[in-house]
Amino acid sequence: MFTSTKEHFITFEGIDGCGKSTQAKLLLEKLNEEGCKSILVREPGGTRISEAVREILLTKGMDELQNRTEALLMTASRAQLTDEVILPNLHKGNWVVADRYTDSTLAYQGGGRELNLDWLIKLNSFATNDLNPDMTVIVDIVPEEGQRRRASDNPDRIEKSGMDFQQNVRKMYLEIAKRFPDRIFVTDGHETIENIHRKIWNEIKRRYFL
Ligand code: ADP
Ligand code: TYD
Repeated sequence: MFTSTKEHFITFEGIDGCGKSTQAKLLLEKLNEEGCKSILVREPGGTRISEAVREILLTKGMDELQNRTEALLMTASRAQLTDEVILPNLHKGNWVVADRYTDSTLAYQGGGRELNLDWLIKLNSFATNDLNPDMTVIVDIVPEEGQRRRASDNPDRIEKSGMDFQQNVRKMYLEIAKRFPDRIFVTDGHETIENIHRKIWNEIKRRYFL
């Protein structure tokens, strides 16, 4: 069993279909196998209230939803998840693995919807009480590959925003990665599931356990 005294809040990010949910689950299994008590959460959602907000955000046909409303609902869902689940678990010493968190709002509402980044950063701070992930994994793929991987899915409201939108989201993720090089680990999502998992695990061992 590994021991580590640091806080353990790991987030996964990337465009739709990049493979981050697959990697988040594999990491959770690996951590639990190693004796590190861990939970997995997803955004938007993860609590009763946040799941209700998710319904509004992702339901097709809600076309009149304004971009600022979208940003406020994403961060409202985050505030509830942070207070109800993430902080209590971190305080107990558990690991928290999150499938999306604050960077999604910067990438989608900032890069994709072109809302002002400074406002979004403030909104994120308010929603999280200034909680930041200790490490963020961006699983990076080209939008064409994301679309291929989601081909059989029924696209939700945001996934229907198109290729240019996904391109802008990806561009913003890569900009954020440059801005926070210590926190963010970018990994090539075109590799095999096993290779990506191995790279992420090696990085976690390097940061937390060596
Ligand atoms: P996301 O959570 O980023 O939307 P998922 O993890 O749900 O993506 O993966 C989307 C689809 O792509 C799933 O069918 C999954 O099995 C597949 N997939 C995930 N990672 C890879 C990979 N590295 N190579 C090929 N297919 C992958
Ligand atoms: P979801 O079905 O969870 O997709 P994925 O498996 O790709 O994470 O849908 C979440 C959608 O919400 C996804 O398109 C990204 C978007 N989103 C934002 O636009 N802003 C945010 O802050 C968050 C958390 C998600």
